[in-house]
Amino acid sequence: MNDRALWLFGYGSVIYRPSFPFVEQRCATLRGWARRFSQKSDDHRGTPALPGRVVTLVAREGARVRGVAFRIEATRSQSVLDELDHRERAGYERSAVTIELDGGAHARAVVYIAHRGNAWDAGDEREDEIAATILRAHGPSGSNVEYLFRLAEALRALGDPDPHVLALEAAVRAQGQSVTQ
Ligand code: SIN
Repeated sequence: MNDRALWLFGYGSVIYRPSFPFVEQRCATLRGWARRFSQKSDDHRGTPALPGRVVTLVAREGARVRGVAFRIEATRSQSVLDELDHRERAGYERSAVTIELDGGAHARAVVYIAHRGNAWDAGDEREDEIAATILRAHGPSGSNVEYLFRLAEALRALGDPDPHVLALEAAVRAQGQSVTQ
């Protein structure tokens, strides 16, 4: 059993759909990593025949990721981790990192990262290629477009929009328009 309260750092769908009980949420920053739509999703936002694209983190010197840290009670931390292990099962692993909570404090946190070379790694695709896949993919959790648009909206609400996510949002809107014209 895990007997300590847990901070969980979310940077993707966890930001706008925390599916677990928490007692506090704080905006936070993780340094040395960048958000990237380079992970295939064949179970949430796509299918094995047409996997969608979702975010993971890639190590990058000087980069930083804004996200949301959730504090989970000690008595619930093991069951929350078990649930997230299942939700993030397509290539993600738990990592322990140090985050900066807004206001200045540092905290140790768990974050789910799908590392380069995992079985669902889509590699270095161009943004127009990623956008074309996002436009077509749907899975049991909904459309890949919804995943992208909700994330873009959540990051705008955090006051620190991510240029990669905004570029994909614009590319999907532009490609979607050219499909319907
Ligand atoms: C996360 O949001 O922290 C992990 C990636 C995702 O599920 O979108």
